[in-house]
Amino acid sequence: MDATGKFITLEGIDGAGKSSHVEWIADFLQQRGKRVLPTREPGGTRLGERLREWLLSEPMQLETETLLLFAARQEHLAQVIRPALARGCWVVCDRYADATYAYQGGGRGMARKRLETLEQWVQGAHQPDLTLLFDVSCEVARQRIAQADRHLDRFEREHAQFHDRVRRAYLARAARFPGRFRVLDGESDMAGLRARLTQILLAFGA
Ligand code: TYD
Repeated sequence: MDATGKFITLEGIDGAGKSSHVEWIADFLQQRGKRVLPTREPGGTRLGERLREWLLSEPMQLETETLLLFAARQEHLAQVIRPALARGCWVVCDRYADATYAYQGGGRGMARKRLETLEQWVQGAHQPDLTLLFDVSCEVARQRIAQADRHLDRFEREHAQFHDRVRRAYLARAARFPGRFRVLDGESDMAGLRARLTQILLAFGA
């Protein structure tokens, strides 16, 4: 067992399909003998899940939205992520700070410098070890969201240009941090995606 676990995050625009892979990745890692903790943002703690309900439903100032996301992240890191990594667990997190750069930064226009200040305050220099970006065109994402037979949240209801800006911000993050990002074609079929995930995870030491 590794002394310290690994921190893996999944990212992508709404409708990219990333959430359906969290459980599969967790099972795959467990089969490879790892202890795994699947979690998500916003959320991951009792307080974080309550903040998530507000964040997904309540209109608010961009500053408020950004601060609540980082407040939830602070709790998540202190209560869940850091202790799990210290115990040797592999943490698989459905969205993390790259989502804030993509949605609040790219999508809503919050200045990067402000996000960097908050990131430094909450996370210090700690970054995910591996970030899997599921990339799909905004048209495909829109069709998937339209087909979903459920209530859409505040972000899913945003217009096409918003999702396009979020996507571009994600791709810019991936280009800026090529060491930890792996970009997957979210329009591939499931078998193709799982084969690519297997390849990435094995190369990563799973
Ligand atoms: P999501 O993973 O899409 O939840 P679900 O699969 O249940 O729809 O996350 C919820 C939303 O939160 C998503 O639309 C993006 C948004 N979000 C931000 O805007 N900024 C952030 O920092 C995070 C973590 C999420």
